[in-house]
Amino acid sequence: MPPKKTKSIGVFDSGFGGVSILRSIVKALPQYNYLYLGDTARTPYGTRSEEVIYKFTRQAVDFLFSKNCDLIILACNTASSEALRKIQQHYLPKHYPGKKVIGVLIPAAETAVTKTSNKRVGVIATTSTVHSHSFVRELTKIDSAIQVFQKACPLLVPLVEAGEYRSPATRLILENYLNPLQKKNIDTLILGCTHYGILESQIRKIVGPAISIISEAKIVPQKLKHYLQNHPEIETQLSHKPSVIFYSTDLTNNFSVLGSQYFGKKIQARKVTLP
Ligand code: DGL
Repeated sequence: MPPKKTKSIGVFDSGFGGVSILRSIVKALPQYNYLYLGDTARTPYGTRSEEVIYKFTRQAVDFLFSKNCDLIILACNTASSEALRKIQQHYLPKHYPGKKVIGVLIPAAETAVTKTSNKRVGVIATTSTVHSHSFVRELTKIDSAIQVFQKACPLLVPLVEAGEYRSPATRLILENYLNPLQKKNIDTLILGCTHYGILESQIRKIVGPAISIISEAKIVPQKLKHYLQNHPEIETQLSHKPSVIFYSTDLTNNFSVLGSQYFGKKIQARKVTLP
């Protein structure tokens, strides 16, 4: 008997930033069934410890697996940096053999390596992601000659969440964060936080046309497509009844207003409690 095609693809973020990644995934692969979970009650993750981020991410993974997902995308750089490796190496083999969790960091690193000519790559991200050195690890694993210049940008997530992404204050703060990287003569800049995609046009104005900007929403769908081609054991079980269901741990106004902007149409989330 062929396997039943009932499975959904889970997409997880600490809040609503990952909705922008889900949007581009759905656009590229509209045939599947998606479940999105935003941990809005406990966002931001970017200022938390590795231990807490791992615990929260495990709980999210448990929830999405319980909802009939066999594949989960951590559409959150902070969770991808602080929890993904441990989940893949320890948690899944013990509790969910055969199920998969993938992140957004390696696709961004792989793309940056193909774009840089002078091998000087800048990364802007949350404080936790920067401290984890995960981008440095992944970039230099692919090409040991690459020099990585990181900048933690703790004010950007609150500004985006306040809807301030076009304000003059945000521009000043962005300049302050980006100028030290520009002085390092980077030719490629990774937006290493899902919230930063919404600031891309502001960032472009500051860094000019010569720097390649790596925005995860643009690259993750293609990488997912390849992943599914290489994992027929997952792909053949996916439901082909297209739908997107949103869950969040707190029904905030932000999630519905900004989440809808990020997704490009109105979204309505169902409330869940983790664990
Ligand atoms: N979504 C997170 C990321 O991509 C940022 C938001 C947070 O700090 O929770 O890193």
